[in-house]
Amino acid sequence: MDTQHGSVLWFIGLSGAGKTTTARFVASKLREQGRRVELLDGDELRETICKGLGFSKEERFENMKRIAYVSKLLARNGVDVLVSAITPYHEMREIARSEIPGFVEIYVKCSLGECERRDVKGLYAKARRGELKHFTGVSDPFEEPVHPDITICTSSFSVQDNCEAILSWLDNNKALL
Ligand code: PPS
Ligand code: ADP
Ligand code: MG
Repeated sequence: MDTQHGSVLWFIGLSGAGKTTTARFVASKLREQGRRVELLDGDELRETICKGLGFSKEERFENMKRIAYVSKLLARNGVDVLVSAITPYHEMREIARSEIPGFVEIYVKCSLGECERRDVKGLYAKARRGELKHFTGVSDPFEEPVHPDITICTSSFSVQDNCEAILSWLDNNKALL
C-alpha cells in the first residue's frame, strides 16, 4: 500500500468487549502521530447512514456493506479509518477483507460473561428479559474469528497495552498495508 493510502482497522467483537473504547484510544494516538483519522462506530452509524437497519442477518450484512463503502472512500484519500462494529459473521469479515485495500481485522476478545458483567448500556439485562431480540451472544450468533490479523484481550490487558500492541503491529506490517 502506498503511503497516500490509509489503513482500515476494523474492530470486531461482542457488545461491551471494548471496541469503541479501544478504537477511540488508538485514534487519539494516531492523530498524535500526525495521521488523519476517522472513527466509524456502529452505534453512531445506526443513527445516521445506517438508520432504520435492525439486527437480522440480512440487515447486519447491509450495515457492513455501507460501512465498508465509506471506509474505502476515506482510506483511498489517505485517511486511517477505525471501524468499531460487532461484525458477527465470518462471511462478513471476508467480504470486508476482500473489498477493502488496507483492511486489518482486530478481534477485541472478551468473554461473554465479562461483557455481560460490564453491561455498559444495560442491553444484556434487556436481552435476558426478552426485551431485545437477536441480541449478539444471547439470542444471536457471534462467530469466533478464525484468522484475525490482531487479537486483543480486554479482560487481561489495559487499553494502553492493547493500543501499544496494535501500533506496533502496524509498524511491523507497513509493507503489507
Ligand atoms: S453489527 O452486528 O456489526 O451490525 O452491529 P453494530 O452495527 O456494531 O451495532 C451494534 C450496536 O448496537 C447496539 N445493539 C445491539 N447489538 C447487538 N445485537 C442487538 N440486538 C443490538 N441492539 C442494539 C449496541 O449498542 C451495539 O454497540 P456495541 O458498541 O457493540 O455495544
Ligand atoms: P463495545 O464498543 O465493544 O461495546 P465499549 O468500549 O463501549 O465496548 O465498552 C467497554 C467497557 O469495558 C467500557 O466501560 C470500558 O471502560 C471497559 N473496559 C475495561 N477494561 C477495558 C480494556 N482493557 N479495554 C477496553 N475497555 C475496557
Ligand atoms: Mg461500541
